[in-house]
Amino acid sequence: MAADYLTATFGLEGRTALITGAASGLGYSIACALGQAGARIIVNDLSEALCTEAVEKLNAQGIAACGKAFDVSDANSVNAAVAHLSQDGWQPNVLVSNAGNQSRMPVVEQSPEMWQSLFNVHVNGAFNCARAVLPNMIEKGDGRIILMSSVAALASMPGISAYAAAKGALASFTRSLAVEYGGKGITTNALAPGFVRTKFTVALQERDQFNDFLHDSVPLGRWAQPEDIAPAVVYLASRAGSFVNGHLLAIDGGLLAQM
Ligand SMILES: NC(=O)c1ccc[n+]([C@@H]2O[C@H](COP(=O)([O-])OP(=O)(O)OC[C@H]3O[C@@H](n4cnc5c(N)ncnc54)[C@H](O)[C@@H]3O)[C@@H](O)[C@H]2O)c1
Repeated sequence: MAADYLTATFGLEGRTALITGAASGLGYSIACALGQAGARIIVNDLSEALCTEAVEKLNAQGIAACGKAFDVSDANSVNAAVAHLSQDGWQPNVLVSNAGNQSRMPVVEQSPEMWQSLFNVHVNGAFNCARAVLPNMIEKGDGRIILMSSVAALASMPGISAYAAAKGALASFTRSLAVEYGGKGITTNALAPGFVRTKFTVALQERDQFNDFLHDSVPLGRWAQPEDIAPAVVYLASRAGSFVNGHLLAIDGGLLAQM
């Protein structure tokens, strides 16, 4: 395939992507992929130290990047961060809302505070970030929003009720944004990854029984690596994905396809 075609279709030169929870795991892998495709990267995570470390690793790959620490569940911090970024010439035209937390336990053992904490980070975090970047995207008539949902939005297993409910809410929020802002030149889509080897899933990776379940349930017979997921974000953020809107893309090795 001609390099010109790839650059024109999948290249992200001139784009600025804000990725939340980008210091590790899927977020960092997405930052590398978008950066390698030509975008400038804004790394968000909970601390300056985490952001700086990721920015240095991106810079070492020749990727232009800056860090902005904030808690996505705190609307005031999100608004202030996006305002500062804009003043400094780093106005995001791509948002990847990826930050997430987890609490695996049965409903009767789940505290209301822990349940709420998952909604605060996953759902309110996506709302806060979308709300902060949308006005500029609307003004420019151009923007891409990608939310990190999960296969848990579509199927469940014991012990993940709060997570599954939050990821289901994100799938619905994706459709709402897609229909509300599609007419303004802004697409919104979500990813539904299966089980990915990151620190998020260490407890599962260490369980033999879970590895056996994964081997039997995923037709590809293995864990995903973050690099299996990240290129889909390049697609959705690029010209190649310009007519994809309101879609929930499962990247799960066939997990949801199997009876
Ligand atoms: N790993 C999987 O199997 C899997 C599968 C489907 C979806 N996901 C989703 O992918 C996303 C990334 O997960 P991961 O596997 O890379 O995990 P991870 O723990 O490696 O990364 C999550 C990052 O989010 C950051 N974060 C947490 N709360 C935050 C907040 N309030 N504000 C800003 N940053 C915050 C963490 O510090 C961390 O760097 C999550 O939304 C997760 O639910 C993961």
